[in-house]
Amino acid sequence: MAILFDEATRQFRLHTDASSYIIRLLDGKYLLHAYWGARVRAYKTDVYARFCGAPEEAFTLQEMPTDRLPQEFPAFGHGDSRMPAVHILQVNGSRVSDLTYRAHRITKGKPPLEGLPATFSDECETLEIDLADDVSGVRVTLMYSVFEAYNAIARSAVVTNAGAADVRIEKLDSACVDFDRSDFDILTLSGAWARERAPYRRALVPGAQGVGSLHGASGHQQSPFVALLSKDATETNGDAYGMALVYSGNFEACADVSQFGQTRAHIGLQPFDFSWLLAPGERFQSPEAVLVYSGEGLGRMSRDYHRLWQNCLMRSSFANKPRPILINNWEATYFGFDEEKLLSIARAAKKAGVELFVLDDGWFGKRDSDNCSLGDWVCDTRKLPGGIGGLAEKINKEGLLFGLWFEPEMVSPDSELYRAHPDWCIHVKNRERLEARHQLILDLSREDVCDYIISAVSAVLQSANIAYVKWDMNRNMSDIGGAQLPPERQRELPHRYMLGLYRVMKTITERFPSVLFEGCAGGGGRFDAGILAYMPQIWCSDNTDAICRSQIQYATTLVFPPSAMGAHVSAVPNHQTGRTTPMETRAAVAMCGTFGYELDATKLSDDELAQMKKQTDFFKEIKPLMQNGALYRLRSPFEGDDAAWCVVSPDKARAVATLVKTLKRVHMQGERLRLDGLDKSADYAVRFAPFTAQSDTPSFVMGGDELMASGLPVPAQRFDFESRMVVLERV
Ligand code: DGJ
Repeated sequence: MAILFDEATRQFRLHTDASSYIIRLLDGKYLLHAYWGARVRAYKTDVYARFCGAPEEAFTLQEMPTDRLPQEFPAFGHGDSRMPAVHILQVNGSRVSDLTYRAHRITKGKPPLEGLPATFSDECETLEIDLADDVSGVRVTLMYSVFEAYNAIARSAVVTNAGAADVRIEKLDSACVDFDRSDFDILTLSGAWARERAPYRRALVPGAQGVGSLHGASGHQQSPFVALLSKDATETNGDAYGMALVYSGNFEACADVSQFGQTRAHIGLQPFDFSWLLAPGERFQSPEAVLVYSGEGLGRMSRDYHRLWQNCLMRSSFANKPRPILINNWEATYFGFDEEKLLSIARAAKKAGVELFVLDDGWFGKRDSDNCSLGDWVCDTRKLPGGIGGLAEKINKEGLLFGLWFEPEMVSPDSELYRAHPDWCIHVKNRERLEARHQLILDLSREDVCDYIISAVSAVLQSANIAYVKWDMNRNMSDIGGAQLPPERQRELPHRYMLGLYRVMKTITERFPSVLFEGCAGGGGRFDAGILAYMPQIWCSDNTDAICRSQIQYATTLVFPPSAMGAHVSAVPNHQTGRTTPMETRAAVAMCGTFGYELDATKLSDDELAQMKKQTDFFKEIKPLMQNGALYRLRSPFEGDDAAWCVVSPDKARAVATLVKTLKRVHMQGERLRLDGLDKSADYAVRFAPFTAQSDTPSFVMGGDELMASGLPVPAQRFDFESRMVVLERV
């Protein structure tokens, strides 16, 4: 039993294999958070006595006792002056709620969320706890689903208006946890376009700290994820409490340290510029937050998230399947291509072992640059006389699968679609419609707009043999308003947009189950678990430089598995950084993702093509391992110059380890790279990957214990930006 309610102590105990989460009912009325951390048999602390302290202290400080109580889902205005998890505006202007316990249910399995992406499993158990406020009639149902084998708890909250008058939700968290201490570090992932998701770790201080988005997407700038870490937490040791949101829109993830040294960690919808009107009888469900506790440092937390997303979030049939090695024409041609050019790239790539050709932006309308045609999903026959169907056929004849780029959520003002439906975009009447990349965002809070997208994209997918779709989204929201929403509902638009988007993605991905979908948002501007529920991989960043990518991908693995990260070998000098790195390093880095190419293969030398063939041959050999293995981060490029990681098969029989070096330090000898995750009692045959400069080195045998304790001997670096990649096989 993962969940039990203990009548004697009035505790709800949620247990995973290695963690416990305990909620306590006080006086049959107040729902208090008792504990989250390493698995315990029971929790005997008297929470009330501990937190209220001596009564005279509480009175001299003139605080309400509830100001100190660790709440399970704090409401606003009735004695707790910390940041609430839920804030409800009532018809008389009051914002005060007093949510008290009413009932609970424990069931097998997990109900789906209403219109939102979420984890799923028939194996887990779910606890629902009803709280209610007598005065307003508002009910809040807290939902907890326990994934025992992943040390994860998925949470969501549903607000129901059971009263007689309208209410307005002003804030609703997905999860909130009151810790009785504040000696934590907080870890968030922050960045910008082309340098997404760098880890920032700092000590908690009194007050509020955290991240959020107002971009209308989860964003390049901040990820919908926060972790609290014990001071001693490393990759392999210490406590890590992760909270990740299964959502792709505006969010907030914060930790607030109170005057008493407690920490309230919370994650959910961004409350700024959000509100949701609930008429009597209506319900509103928050997005899902997934909490993972690890007592074995960040590495274990990441691996639990990786397995959970792959097995219990991604609905795609590709979730656990190795993906085709692709070549994408974007950095090869940008908008300047014709059919012959594309076919010549495809032919060269096929010879070098590529399996899928992807046609990126520029195939529709009159799109010779980014200033027109978004929304007109009709093939440009000037460039492709046989249409998409004709090109797909020819690509298939070359022995490759065919894939296609879309940006379905957008409209160019210079398009047939915009001329026909100028009110279909997000805009505010009588205000300038600010363009970004010459485009506006379609208003996906509207059913007719979503239906148009579904039928336009479906028509193209039905018209040709398309095996893969890249789903791009290239601008943030501004001038937020919708033509169909009444004034009192205008602040609902960003969330209604996400609900519309999820309906569109669900419909299309279910209609075309054999198509592999890759999400994208100007690179990694919407890299989140919400998108992964529909699309099992996401283009990680528009920065394809191997050194920058080793950082971006390294940090992305804190929450997401290698199989979710779109990663390509591109040309040098790199288009974003101007840096020239060896082809083998570019490949070694891209192999810790979905692996593909994004260059003009016709411009490669014979040597480079031969190397490319060796790379694709090798990747085909290690694909299942890279897809389903466990990732161990070994050297952080954010702490030193180099990056290293290894991926170990579930049975520990095989592993691949990668080391990426940056600037060469002169007169240094070779080094040792300590591995992780291997079978200590086994011996491993070690060989260098066949496409690398060390491939002639004879293979040798080392013990798993030795490889982890003493380390793999690595030949000295000769030039800048070299890499080393080895395969280990249990003998
Ligand atoms: C942004 C994407 O991240 C790129 O890979 C490419 O698809 C362009 N958009 C095309 O406009």
